[in-house]
Amino acid sequence: MRQHNCSSVLSFPPLLLLLAVLFTFVSSTPQNSLYRGSSLSVEDDSDILTSPDKFFTCGFYPVGTNAFCFSIWFTNTVNRTVVWMANRDRAVNGHGSRISLQKDGTMILTDLDGGSVWSTNTTGTNVQKLELLNSGNLILTDPQGKILWQSFDSPTDTLLPTQTLTKNTKLISAKGEGMYSSGYFSSFFDNDNVLRLIYDGSEISSIYWPNPGVTVFENGRTNYNSSRIALFDDMGRFLSSDQLSFSASDMGIGIRRRLVMNSDGNLRLYSLNESTMSWVVSWEALRQQCNVHGLCGKNGICAYTPKPQCSCPPGYKMADLQDWNKGCKPMFNLSCNQTQEVRFLKLPQTDFYGYDLNFPSPVSFITCKNHCLESCDCQAFVYRLTGEGTCYGKSVLFNGVKTPDFPGSAYLKLPKSLVTSEDSRPKGSDPTCGSNRTETPLDPSVMYDTQSGTTKWVYLYSFAVAIGVIEVFFASFGWWFLFRKHGVPTSMEYGYQAIASQFRKFTYNELRKATNSFKDELGRGSSGVVYKGVLRDDRVVAVKKLGDVIQGEEEFWAEVTTFGRINHMNLVRIWGFCSGSVHRLLVYEYAENGSLDRYLFPDVFRSIRSPLLEWNDRFRIALGTAKGLAYLHHECLEWVIHCDMKPENILLDSEFEPKIADFGLSKLSQRGGAGSEFSRIRGTKGYMAPEWALNLPITAKVDVYSFGVVLLEIVKGIRLSSWILMDEAVEMTGLTSLLREVKRRIGNDEEFCVEDVVDPQLKGKFNRKQASMMVKIGISCVEEDRNKRPTMDAVVQALLECKDEPQVHTANMLR
Ligand SMILES: *[C@@H]1O[C@H](CO)[C@@H](O)[C@H](O)[C@H]1NC(C)=O
Ligand SMILES: *[C@@H]1O[C@H](CO)[C@@H](O)[C@H](O)[C@H]1NC(C)=O
Ligand SMILES: *[C@@H]1O[C@H](CO)[C@@H](O)[C@H](O)[C@H]1NC(C)=O
Ligand SMILES: *[C@@H]1O[C@H](CO)[C@@H](O)[C@H](O)[C@H]1NC(C)=O
Ligand SMILES: *[C@@H]1O[C@H](CO)[C@@H](O)[C@H](O)[C@H]1NC(C)=O
Ligand SMILES: *[C@@H]1O[C@H](CO)[C@@H](O)[C@H](O)[C@H]1NC(C)=O
Ligand SMILES: *[C@@H]1O[C@H](CO)[C@@H](O)[C@H](O)[C@H]1NC(C)=O
Repeated sequence: MRQHNCSSVLSFPPLLLLLAVLFTFVSSTPQNSLYRGSSLSVEDDSDILTSPDKFFTCGFYPVGTNAFCFSIWFTNTVNRTVVWMANRDRAVNGHGSRISLQKDGTMILTDLDGGSVWSTNTTGTNVQKLELLNSGNLILTDPQGKILWQSFDSPTDTLLPTQTLTKNTKLISAKGEGMYSSGYFSSFFDNDNVLRLIYDGSEISSIYWPNPGVTVFENGRTNYNSSRIALFDDMGRFLSSDQLSFSASDMGIGIRRRLVMNSDGNLRLYSLNESTMSWVVSWEALRQQCNVHGLCGKNGICAYTPKPQCSCPPGYKMADLQDWNKGCKPMFNLSCNQTQEVRFLKLPQTDFYGYDLNFPSPVSFITCKNHCLESCDCQAFVYRLTGEGTCYGKSVLFNGVKTPDFPGSAYLKLPKSLVTSEDSRPKGSDPTCGSNRTETPLDPSVMYDTQSGTTKWVYLYSFAVAIGVIEVFFASFGWWFLFRKHGVPTSMEYGYQAIASQFRKFTYNELRKATNSFKDELGRGSSGVVYKGVLRDDRVVAVKKLGDVIQGEEEFWAEVTTFGRINHMNLVRIWGFCSGSVHRLLVYEYAENGSLDRYLFPDVFRSIRSPLLEWNDRFRIALGTAKGLAYLHHECLEWVIHCDMKPENILLDSEFEPKIADFGLSKLSQRGGAGSEFSRIRGTKGYMAPEWALNLPITAKVDVYSFGVVLLEIVKGIRLSSWILMDEAVEMTGLTSLLREVKRRIGNDEEFCVEDVVDPQLKGKFNRKQASMMVKIGISCVEEDRNKRPTMDAVVQALLECKDEPQVHTANMLR
């Protein structure tokens, strides 16, 4: 092993060094193992390992100017094909970085500043050497040949023959063509044991394969086998425990293959043509590329022209000309007052998947249209010409696709005053198609490129981003040069950190640093302690350290995957997690204003009194919380029950917008499936539905009950739960008897005196109609018979009905 002399290299002019780095891998002295105590250096192009058959190479791979990742790639394919990376989201500097097999057995990747970027879990083991096998597997073995660590256990976006996909691994796409950091699409075993593809973007998460519109069994899968394992063999056959099986079109032995989660969201199997040394697609998960979710962003539409392309509907324009992920933004404002006239624009054969409003169906087209007209939340509706006609109101437009196969059309709600030209309707963005409108981008950044029978997405924006990245690196390089002169070797981490900030796994050290060694405690819950922290990219976060370390790895992953896919304005976003042998942590979005209980029930022991919540805020919090729960119950692909709704779990952001937190107790269960059994009681006294005590099946109605209690507390400004639990005598004369009376009157359609129920601290400043609606809903939610409780969707609808009351009122008076 060649020992590298750092000082001699560092005395080279940096530009020469850079060139030397760029002209790497020209000549090399192949070796296939690295022994304990030695290392590979980023500067030395002969510091690589090759597999005995020379097909695979392992070493530092350039991912940007002066940015490298420790990787494994196919040595001789036309364009070197990377199959694995240790540090795809944290590239290291082109100088001074190295991978070392330390004396203590750890294989560690260090950056210029000596800081650890990545390491294996082999500390303290009897590691002898690192070896690259013919299969492309990089392994650490002890003197007896036992494998202590292998790269096959932590795939990036590629699965190689003989490699397995397990419940602990996923394939995560790269950000874009020619990029390497983690992107938006992944392939993983879901909580119900089914292998799926999911889009996990900044605004939404959405499963798109296998077809989410039909059941697991209709997709030819099963969810009975919980082994969650898939094997891809030398013959080109793929077999998964959920009964998914497929084979390469050129099935047979002796052909090099790789299964890749592509950056366009498709999962493809590639076979190597050894005469041309290039890759040919021999299987792909989705024939219809537009069925991939999230491709064209919010309001965007994917259409075949015949190549799949993204475009914006009339009245919308691309939000970010470089990035379709950001979708399209409206060029109008739809207000929900009665003075603004709206019209509907038909987009034939177009569908938007998901985000359905709870509209009745089947109904006539006119009824469907009127429902959308009346609902403020309705941005558009999709009318399907199947059976008697199905009506879907859309609150958000995502996953738009236009295909001749779709038996229906979408109708966009637009202000009547907005002029749109019919020729700006989604279609190919062929620049020769003679229109000189400027609102719709002429050439959307996604092009579809057919190359020798294989298809490939080319993201123009990736070039733009790449140029940006290169700029950052050049800038950083300058800095490094300056600082080096002054003897301050500064890490360039900042530049490459910016590359990736999606949902991800954090290291314990990272979180310890972020939270300043867990100093700033935000609160304590049943499931753990929450600390405030600041990530390297300056995002303020809440880090929850789960106290219960006994909690199984599996349960933890379950929770994390639940989170990872849920994305709604009224639900706390999770940014990532950390799962070590001892530590389990979750990283959440930080809510500036803390939890609702602080405002509702002022604590006499707290020195700073929280301000009184105004009525408008109370109503908004109630509505937002209802929307969040309705989303969990009705709109998620999986049916999620929270099980622990209480003011402590409703966080308030800087605008006092509520965000439901702590899904730690929730459990996924298949919609309509038999899986709604809970093994142990969850929840908090005073908010728990009677079902828990009665041993009845637990359904989403337990959340409705708890929500009812919270709703009444928001109105009354008092801890209702503790009141009811208190002494019988006090209780009967207090709130409960009042509620009984109210209930009786509601039952008899009588008016009740809402002033008696509303928080007296508001001094009468509240909206009477909203307050009585909230009390009525609250009481119907806490019905003992769960069948009598409304659904969360119905609650949202009822609250929405009185939402714009003041505005409509004024409008009527003006007329
Ligand atoms: C190799 O990469 C270049 C540039 O990225 C591209 O033009 C070319 O088509 C690629 N070749 C193959 C066989 O993929
Ligand atoms: C390292 O982690 C892998 C995967 O989690 C595990 O299979 C292996 O046994 C671990 N090795 C050691 C030495 O703990
Ligand atoms: C589950 O799948 C694994 C892997 O495909 C298989 O070996 C096992 O027999 C299956 N178990 C059952 C009960 O079907
Ligand atoms: C490999 O590519 C060459 C040239 O395109 C073609 O003639 C040959 O049939 C291919 N071989 C295989 C096994 O597909
Ligand atoms: C829509 O309203 C927002 C704020 O109310 C305003 O900033 C924006 O310019 C408006 N957009 C259009 C197209 O009128
Ligand atoms: C193109 O622009 C010119 C002048 O700006 C205008 O007269 C003409 O009508 C436009 N053509 C179309 C198809 O919009
Ligand atoms: C209704 O909306 C329109 C368009 O946004 C606005 O100009 C008008 O002032 C609004 N009227 C009322 C009464 O809010």
